[in-house]
Amino acid sequence: MEKKLIIIGIETSCDDTAVSLIRNRKVLSNVIIHQNIHKKYGGVVPELASRLHEKHLILAVNKAISNAKINKEEIDAVSFTLGPGLIGPLLVGSSFSKSFSMGLNIPLLTVNHIQGHILSHFIQNSNMNNYFPKFPFLSLIISGGHTLIVKISDFFKMKILGSTLDDSVGETIDKVARVLGLSYPGGPLLEYFSINGSSEKFQFSKPTVKGLSFSFSGLKSQIIYFIEEKMKKDPLFIKKNLSDLCASIQKIIAEILIDKIKKAAIQTGIFRITLAGGVSANNEIRKSFLLFAKKNKEWEIFIPNKEYTTDNGAMIAITGLLKYKKNIFDSIHVTPYSKFSKF
Ligand code: KG4
Ligand code: ZN
Repeated sequence: MEKKLIIIGIETSCDDTAVSLIRNRKVLSNVIIHQNIHKKYGGVVPELASRLHEKHLILAVNKAISNAKINKEEIDAVSFTLGPGLIGPLLVGSSFSKSFSMGLNIPLLTVNHIQGHILSHFIQNSNMNNYFPKFPFLSLIISGGHTLIVKISDFFKMKILGSTLDDSVGETIDKVARVLGLSYPGGPLLEYFSINGSSEKFQFSKPTVKGLSFSFSGLKSQIIYFIEEKMKKDPLFIKKNLSDLCASIQKIIAEILIDKIKKAAIQTGIFRITLAGGVSANNEIRKSFLLFAKKNKEWEIFIPNKEYTTDNGAMIAITGLLKYKKNIFDSIHVTPYSKFSKF
C-alpha cells in the first residue's frame, strides 16, 4: 500500500496565521490565529501583521502538531504560501518554513495562495463523501485580494478567463461595511446584520462590464453615495435600515457573480463550478448559487466547507500534497512575491 503522506501547510499571506496538518487528503488539524488589532485601523496594517505572525506562528505550529496527535518527526514535507500577499507576512512564513524543512530534513513545497483557494476542493470532506470536482471545471475566486474566473483543466493547469478591472468583491464589501459602521473585516458582520433584513428594500443597479471581467468600484460608489445622501436627510438612516441595507447589498453582489459565471459557463461549455475564497463563506451567496443549480439541472456547483473558504492552512497543505505527488519540489532559495502575475 502507498505510504500516507503527512504535510504541514503554513499560510501567512495576510492577517491570519494559519497552520494545518493533513494525512493524504484528510485534515488532522486546522489552526487559525486571527489578528484583531487591525479592527481599529479599518484594514490590515502590514507592519503589525508581520510582527504578529512572528509572535503567533510557533504557537500555531505547536498547536497544529498537538491537535493532530503526531510527532513532528512524522511530517513528510513543509508546504507554505509563497505569494501573492503582503511581503512582510509572507517573509515570516517563508523563513520559518525553510528553517523547519532544514531542521527536519524534509522537502519544501511552495504554494500560490490563489491556487490554494482553488484546490481547497480536494480536501477530503466528511460531508461530501469524497465528492471532488472532475476536470475541467470553472473556479470563481471571491476573496479580499482577488475576484477571478479560472478554467481548471488539471491540478496545475489553470487559465484565467476573467478578473476584476478595479476593486475585488471582498474589498468592496469591506469598504461598504465600513461606511455602515461595521468593523474590519466587514463581510461576516454584513452577513450577520442581513439575517432579518429584506433584500428587496433597496435596489442598486448592476454594472455592465464586457466579457468575463468584473468591476466593483462603480457599485461601491453607488452604494456609498446613496447612504451618504440618505444620512444627510436623516442621521439615523443607517441605524433604522441596517438589516435591509446589508441584505440588499448581499443580493446585488450575488446576482453580479451568478450573471458572470453563467456567461463564462455558456462561453466555455463548462457547467461545473467551484466557489472559493473568503466571500464564499457568505450564506446568502452560497444559497443563491445552490438555488440556481437546483433550477438548472446541467449545472454542478461545489461550495467548500466554511472553514476552508477564508484563509487556512489546509488549502496550502493539500496543494503541497498534490505537488509532492507530481514531484514538484522547491529549493530554499525561493523568495516570496507580493503580486500575482500568472499561474
Ligand atoms: O480569502 P480571504 O480570507 O482572504 C483573501 O485571500 O483575501 O477573504 C477575505 C475576504 C474579506 O473581504 C472578508 O470581508 C470576506 O472575505 N468575507 C466575507 C465573509 N467572510 C469573509 N464576505 C461576506 N460574507 C462572509 N461571511
Ligand atoms: Zn485568501
